[in-house]
Amino acid sequence: MKFNEAEIVQLPKNFDRRGNLSVIEEIKNIPFKIERTYWIYDVPGGEVRGGHAYRQNQEFIVALSGSFEVLLDDGKARKIFPLNRSYYGLYIPQGVWRQMQNFSTNSVALILASTKFDSSDYIYDYEYFKAYV
Ligand code: TYD
Repeated sequence: MKFNEAEIVQLPKNFDRRGNLSVIEEIKNIPFKIERTYWIYDVPGGEVRGGHAYRQNQEFIVALSGSFEVLLDDGKARKIFPLNRSYYGLYIPQGVWRQMQNFSTNSVALILASTKFDSSDYIYDYEYFKAYV
């Protein structure tokens, strides 16, 4: 059950009257070395992102601004992880179907990835995914 490995991680936070600061260090706060960083923004209301799994890539997702949900599916069960604070992140191991949904207006998703972009790492077919896991 891959859900055992997926988890919400509370990141270090420096609350300050000048503004708050949080930090991620590879290996220390997340269990992989960061090969790639990308972000998703300007998501129109009602849109869904993701809807695939990766064979190898692990990810760590932070709602830098606003909120959204990450739906995870390990082929047997589904679970929704809400992200709505800049100091929480969701670790997603490889081999988990994931979808991002219910983005609030002006939300920004930061995604740290363990591999470089590789289109052959994607599984887009849900039936194939279920057989794969
Ligand atoms: P995709 O991973 O399908 O987005 P999402 O899972 O959020 O729906 O990527 C969308 C497009 O962006 C696709 O054409 C591939 C490209 N892309 C890159 O070129 N590099 C990357 O690191 C990522 C994540 C996507």
